[in-house]
Amino acid sequence: METWMITGTTGFLGPRVEVALREKEEVKVLPMTRRELDFTDEEQVKRVLGSFRPDVLVHAAAISDTGACERDPEGSWKVNVTGVEYLAKVCRENGTKLIFASSDQVYTGSKIRTPHKETEILKPANVYGREKLEAEKVIAALCPDGISLRLTWMYDLPGKLPVKPNFITNIRNAMDKGELLLFSENDFRGLTDGRTVAERITRLGKIPGGVYNFGSPNRVDFYETARKTVEALGGDPEKIVGKQENGAFRNLAFSTEKLEAAGISFPDTLEGICNCLR
Ligand SMILES: NC(=O)c1ccc[n+]([C@@H]2O[C@H](COP(=O)([O-])OP(=O)(O)OC[C@H]3O[C@@H](n4cnc5c(N)ncnc54)[C@H](OP(=O)(O)O)[C@@H]3O)[C@@H](O)[C@H]2O)c1
Repeated sequence: METWMITGTTGFLGPRVEVALREKEEVKVLPMTRRELDFTDEEQVKRVLGSFRPDVLVHAAAISDTGACERDPEGSWKVNVTGVEYLAKVCRENGTKLIFASSDQVYTGSKIRTPHKETEILKPANVYGREKLEAEKVIAALCPDGISLRLTWMYDLPGKLPVKPNFITNIRNAMDKGELLLFSENDFRGLTDGRTVAERITRLGKIPGGVYNFGSPNRVDFYETARKTVEALGGDPEKIVGKQENGAFRNLAFSTEKLEAAGISFPDTLEGICNCLR
C-alpha cells in the first residue's frame, strides 16, 4: 500500500486532497499540520520525512496570499522557497515523489495573448509568482521525478471543508447584498473547482516529473466569466456585473495540452462552475 503525506491540511487545498485520497482505499494518508511538520525547520523535515518515508508528498502548504508576500518577501521566501528546498532534498534522499502546488501567478507580467505553455520563459511581475517559479526550479534541480502544478485560482461552495473567499462566494455575496462588481474584458484566467483539483492530484503518482499547467482552461475573458456565473447562480448579470473600462491587460489563462498528453484533463472554466453549482 502506498503512503501519501500531505502538508497544508489546515488550508483550502490540503483538506480536499486528504478527502480525495481517503476515497481511494489502497492508499495510506498522512495529513500534516504545521505542528507536526514545520517545513521551514530543516532538522524537523529530515526527522519527520525520515521516519514516515512516504512514497508521495503533496506539498500544499505555503504563504498563498500574494499581498502578504509583497509585504514580507523575506518571510515568504523562507516558506515558499527555502522550505520547498528542505523538502525536496529529503524527498530525493528517500525516493519520495514530490508534488508541489505552484501557481498560474508565474505568468503575471507576460505579454503573450494566447494560452500559456509550460515551456515559456518567465519573469513574474509579483513576489509570490517569483517565489513559485524559483521553487519549481529547485524541484527540477533536486528531484527530476518531482511535479510542479501551476494551479489556477480555485473555488468551492461553503460546506464541510474550509473555504476562503473565492470567485463564486464573492459573486454570491454581491448578489445577496445587491452590489455591483467590476470585471475587465482585458483579464484572462482560468478558475477551477478545488475538489476537482484534489481528485486529479490523486492520479499523479506515476506521471513523469516536470511542470504542468493544472486546472481549467478558459476561452472567455473575466467579464464574460462573471456574467455567465451570475446567470448560473440564477441572478441577473446586468445588476451584478459591471464592465471595468480600460482594465490593465492580464493573461494567466493556460493550455493543458501537456497534462492531457499525460492522460489528465479538466473541464473548461464555465463548464466546471456549472458542474460545481449543480
Ligand atoms: N487557493 C488557491 O486558489 C490557489 C491558487 C493557486 C495556487 N495555490 C497554491 O496551492 C497551495 C494550497 O493553497 P491553499 O489555498 O490551500 O493555501 P492556504 O489556504 O493559504 O493554506 C496554507 C497552508 O499552509 C500552511 N503553512 C504555512 N506555513 C507553514 C509552515 N511553515 N509549516 C507548515 N505549514 C505551513 C498553513 O498552516 P497554518 O494553518 O498553520 O497557517 C495552511 O495549512 C499553496 O501552495 C498555494 O500557493 C492556491
